[in-house]
Amino acid sequence: MSLLGVQSLVYGVDDLDAAVRFHDDFGLVAVRRDPDAVDYALEDGSTVVLRRNDDPALPARFTTAPGVREVIWGVDTPAALNALRANLSGDRKVAVDADGTLHTRDDNGIAIGFRLFARKSLEAIASTENAPGDIRRWNTHRRWVKRAVPRCMNHVVFGVPDVDRAMAFYIHRLGFKLSDVSRGLGVFMRCDGRNEHHSVFFLKTGIIAWHHVAYGVQNVDEVMVGADHMQRRGWKSDLGIGRHRIGSSVFYYLTNPAGGMSEYSADTDYLTDDWQPRLWEPRFGNWHWLGKVPDAFMSEPDWDVSIIADTNKSFSELSGNAPPVKAMNG
Ligand SMILES: [Fe+2]
Repeated sequence: MSLLGVQSLVYGVDDLDAAVRFHDDFGLVAVRRDPDAVDYALEDGSTVVLRRNDDPALPARFTTAPGVREVIWGVDTPAALNALRANLSGDRKVAVDADGTLHTRDDNGIAIGFRLFARKSLEAIASTENAPGDIRRWNTHRRWVKRAVPRCMNHVVFGVPDVDRAMAFYIHRLGFKLSDVSRGLGVFMRCDGRNEHHSVFFLKTGIIAWHHVAYGVQNVDEVMVGADHMQRRGWKSDLGIGRHRIGSSVFYYLTNPAGGMSEYSADTDYLTDDWQPRLWEPRFGNWHWLGKVPDAFMSEPDWDVSIIADTNKSFSELSGNAPPVKAMNG
């Protein structure tokens, strides 16, 4: 079986006009614009679906705040989809659409679905960097870009009270791979058929909460161009641009009127099964880079990261006596 990442992210929104304006400005391409339904498609064939909160076709809400109502994961083969249906039907209700899409809940109550996904491969765009002693570009300027172009969804993030339960379900029932653990903060996992550092991150929070989605863009230039454009259009970011140590990605988070945040993400790590998961001190993993340094980062974090010797341990066991961490982005 292979899961190929998020095939569709389904929002239920209070203000559809604002949500559409945001996603248009963000750089997504609409493929359906009806009064109560707007769909966007990315280059790899995945979709972002906006519906009104009271749309009867949406699954019941699992969060108190508006936001994502369902994550539909892409599946590579009919046999894999059937195997998932048989497995999950053993201990939960699984509804099946006419097109074969499965709808159910994960062990924390988050609405999830599964659908066949012929994910399109992305065309390579050459992007070369110069550095002292390592000159790759002679008599050539960098590729100039006018707008950020989100090309795929790299990951989604939820807050859950029980991260152990999320980790067990996604690894043992859905075949996700453990990427890294941030001590006391949360768990990064990736689909078995995707290589970005993480496909999902579960943050430890008091209640179930939708947090953010990250869109892969070409490089740091596009993150900056996207940040400029979104600010000119009146959208807000709390953190500015930075780079995580966990996963290496450059980030820019924007508050999304559809709920939670949307992130431009560039230069993430890509992992294979040879990867050895690591245990991080949360502040050390976050590594803020540009703009105003948040209060929590005004003191230098400890240099605290190690390979996880026993990947069968739960998040709680790996976190030990680490105090609960105030939620940070990932
Ligand atoms: Fe992220």
